Amino acid sequence: MKQRRDVTDELRATVRKELPEVEEIQDESLRAKVIEAWALSLAHSGFDSIDAIEPAANPGVNRLKNGKQSDHIRGVTKMAVAVAEQMCALMPSLSVDKDCLIAGALCHDVGKPFEFDPENRKRWEANPYASGLPAIRHPAFGVYICLTVGLPEEIAHCAAAHSGEGELVVRSLENTIIHHVDYAFWNVCRAGDLLVPETLAALKSGR
Ligand SMILES: [Fe+2]
Repeated sequence: MKQRRDVTDELRATVRKELPEVEEIQDESLRAKVIEAWALSLAHSGFDSIDAIEPAANPGVNRLKNGKQSDHIRGVTKMAVAVAEQMCALMPSLSVDKDCLIAGALCHDVGKPFEFDPENRKRWEANPYASGLPAIRHPAFGVYICLTVGLPEEIAHCAAAHSGEGELVVRSLENTIIHHVDYAFWNVCRAGDLLVPETLAALKSGR
């Protein structure tokens, strides 16, 4: 697929700033690929930062009253690490790959720039039967991005199957954690009155 613009160092620097948890990834090449993935995904859209994307679970659905899209990505990453640490402390035989967990959490929504892009939305909404509405949801577009930048299948899987699409497969251990904290993030925000009322998804709907 043709990019809208080139991936620049400026774009990479923006991603690094918006997702400081990337520094917690021990493997240098994995760290670089996570940054590359977000930069490439943004380059496929009109957004020049993660925080320019609507702070919502899906376009127009479960939008934060106050907060940014990076708050969601970072929140999911922090919660995933916390769950893994607490569970592993209680159950020492549990073996979570921390690099995979952090990279997977940071990349789970990496396909959002394409699905949320206003130009794409306008085209799809004008004629849903031409190429679908959306043509490609963020989990599938995220897989395209992850594999394009050379991320391993374990990380592409977190993008692919963190949401409803994951009901069709068996989720990895790391993605099971990511899936649950992703849903927890939106459900806690909802219960805590942090979401714009008109954007509330039907209870228990997928994201
Ligand atoms: Fe998410």
